[in-house]
Amino acid sequence: MMKKTLVLKVDSQRPELDKIRLAASLIRRGGLVAFPTETVYGLGADAFNQKAVLRLFRAKKRPLDNPPIVHVAESKSVYQLAKEVPPSAQRLMEQFWPGPLTLILKRSDLVPAVTVAGLDTIAVRMPRHEVALALIRESGCPVAAPSANLAGKPSPTSAEHVLADLDGRIDTVLDSGPTVVGVESTVLDMTVGPPEVLRPGGTSYELLKSFLGNVKLSPIAVADKPLPLEKVRSPGLKHKHYAPDADVVVVEGKIPAIVAKVNELARFYKLRGSKVGVLCTDETMQEYKADVVKSLGSRDDLANVARNLFRLLREFDIAKVDIVIAEGVPAEGLGLAVMNRLRKAAGYKIAHAEAS
Ligand code: TXA
Ligand code: MG
Repeated sequence: MMKKTLVLKVDSQRPELDKIRLAASLIRRGGLVAFPTETVYGLGADAFNQKAVLRLFRAKKRPLDNPPIVHVAESKSVYQLAKEVPPSAQRLMEQFWPGPLTLILKRSDLVPAVTVAGLDTIAVRMPRHEVALALIRESGCPVAAPSANLAGKPSPTSAEHVLADLDGRIDTVLDSGPTVVGVESTVLDMTVGPPEVLRPGGTSYELLKSFLGNVKLSPIAVADKPLPLEKVRSPGLKHKHYAPDADVVVVEGKIPAIVAKVNELARFYKLRGSKVGVLCTDETMQEYKADVVKSLGSRDDLANVARNLFRLLREFDIAKVDIVIAEGVPAEGLGLAVMNRLRKAAGYKIAHAEAS
């Protein structure tokens, strides 16, 4: 049954309480509310309401074996979700929350199985966004919220992106403009020693390492090819992800070898009759001839590159290109998250540019 999705414009700094209360009452009644976080827009449902969480999966067309992150507005709510909160997790919460860091903990038996896709662990985080925090607080429950896109698509960094995927499939979207981080939170598994980054994201690996001392990058976080299923501990990671309608290929290596390879591929696809897009950076933008050329920003500002990534992937679809040839960026700071998303969007089609 199609329904109308209500769009509520909300001030990102001082959210209007009447609008937040309306959205919260929908959550409490088992509805689905998309809302901004500092990373991407999430699609929220009451984490303790099994029916609501099932509707959440259905609205996104998300496979039931890929659990959402459960969002809280205060650290102490974690104790109703997790069976154990190790001291290192407490220190991380004090240091990095609210913020783009998700912790995997042993889950409490109070949480419905559907919310954690039958796992004995749970993903929790406290977002750094006044609208998200106000919504969770007014709802009076932890809010299960995957990114508010159709499964497989790039995550939404604006309310327009949410509507492009989910208009008519959800109750409401709170529109507070574009998100600031642009890639999702870092997912850190605290049930193993040393802690392991399962998904690089808005909190850099370098920062976690300097705080924790000992932290591992899981092979899935840095993979340049699909991994055998038995190695895939973060459930969602085996599914197709971040992909625009267009095919994507990533060109990795050093500038200027990248530039030569991108141009070579652009000519190749053009000869085959494809409409060709190039996703590049300010430093190289002038070097390309293609149907559509878009820059992620300067290579010197990887946080800005991360902020622009998902929007530009969606813009290539609007421009109806057949193939996107994307420059790789350095896999450091937020660049690690960018490369992880790009490689997945490409289905691991990676061209290595060699200096000639
Ligand atoms: O920034 C974000 O994290 C955004 C905003 C809305 O908060 N949310 C988000 O949620 O990206 P989602 O559901 O699209 O991604 C959650 C990730 C998936 O890769 C999922 O497999 C992983 O977290 N995950 C969830 N529960 C897990 C668990 N118990 N163990 C390991 N990985 C888990
Ligand atoms: Mg997602």
